[in-house]
Amino acid sequence: MILVTGASGNVGKEVLKQISQTGIRVRATFQSPSSGASAPSGVEIAIMDYNKPETIRAALKGVERVFLVGPPTQKLPALERQAMDQIRQSDVQQVVKLSAMGGREATYPRQHADSEDYIKTTGVAYTFLRPNGFMQNIVNYNATTINAQNAFYGCQGESKISHIDIRDVAAVATKALTENGHEGKVYTLTGPVALSNAQITRILSDDLGREIRYVDLPSQEFKQALLAAGLPEWSADALVNLQDFYRAGKASGVTNDVEQLLRRRPTSFEQFSRDYRDALRREERAAG
Ligand SMILES: NC(=O)c1ccc[n+]([C@@H]2O[C@H](COP(=O)([O-])OP(=O)(O)OC[C@H]3O[C@@H](n4cnc5c(N)ncnc54)[C@H](OP(=O)(O)O)[C@@H]3O)[C@@H](O)[C@H]2O)c1
Repeated sequence: MILVTGASGNVGKEVLKQISQTGIRVRATFQSPSSGASAPSGVEIAIMDYNKPETIRAALKGVERVFLVGPPTQKLPALERQAMDQIRQSDVQQVVKLSAMGGREATYPRQHADSEDYIKTTGVAYTFLRPNGFMQNIVNYNATTINAQNAFYGCQGESKISHIDIRDVAAVATKALTENGHEGKVYTLTGPVALSNAQITRILSDDLGREIRYVDLPSQEFKQALLAAGLPEWSADALVNLQDFYRAGKASGVTNDVEQLLRRRPTSFEQFSRDYRDALRREERAAG
C-alpha cells in the first residue's frame, strides 16, 4: 500500500491521479472529509493532520511507501518531523519526500534541506525529489492578475528559470513509489530549458491571443503587494527571498534526471501553456 500525503494539494493531487491509474493500492490523506470527496474512485481516504500523531498512525496502517508532502509554510520542517517520528515507528520501508531545488540558498529550499537532514537521521530509506519552481505557479498564483490586467508581477528581473511541469514531478514520484531501486537517491527535477519571464510572456501571449506582460517591481513593493493580497509576512518574505535567488540566476540550471527516469524529454513551457490555456481562459470568463 502506498500513502500519498497532501493529496488535496497541487502536487499530491497529481501524484494520486497517476498512481491510481497504475492499479496499485493507494491511500490518500486529507485534512477534511470534504476535500477527500474529490479523490479518484478506488482510492482509500484517511483524514490526517500532522499536528495529531494519532491520525498519522492510523493513516500509516499497512503502508509500505509514503509520498511525503509538507505545506509551503513556516511550519514545514516541524510538520514533516512529526510525520517522520510516526513513520520511523511504523512498517514503512521508504519515504519519497517532495523537497525543492536550491540547497540552503533561499528560505523555501533551506526548509526542505533541514527536513531532508532530519529524515536521514531516522534510518528510514528515502528518495528526495528536488524540483525547481513549478510551471503551474503561473496558473495557481498569477491567473487573477493575468486575467484582470494581462500582467503578472515579481521582482526576479531578467533571470531565467528552468521551471518544471507538476505532471513530470508526479510521474517521477510515481516511478519512485512503485518501482524498486530508488532508495537513497536524490533527483533534481527541472524543465528542458531555462526561460526568462520575457520569454514566458511571449509564449503565453501567442497562446492566449492577447498581450501578457511581466511587471518587475522593486522587492519591497512586491512584498507590499503580497501582503495586500493577504499573505502572511513570513510567506511574503520567503517569496521575495526566492525571487532574489532567481534574480541571481541560481535557478537556471537544467538537469537530465527527468529524461533519464521517464525516458522522454520533460514537458516544455510551450506544451504546458497549450494544455492550461483553457484554465486561464476560464478564469478570464469568471473575471469578466
Ligand atoms: N510551488 C513551487 O514552485 C515549488 C517548487 C519546489 C518545491 N515545492 C514544494 O512542494 C510542496 C508542495 O507544494 P504544493 O504546491 O503541492 O502545496 P499545496 O498545494 O499547498 O499542498 C500542501 C498540502 O499539504 C496539506 N497540509 C497542510 N497542512 C497540513 C497538516 N497540518 N497536516 C496534513 N496535511 C497538511 C494541504 O492540505 P489542505 O489542502 O487541507 O490545506 C495540502 O494538501 C511544498 O513543500 C513546496 O515547498 C514547491
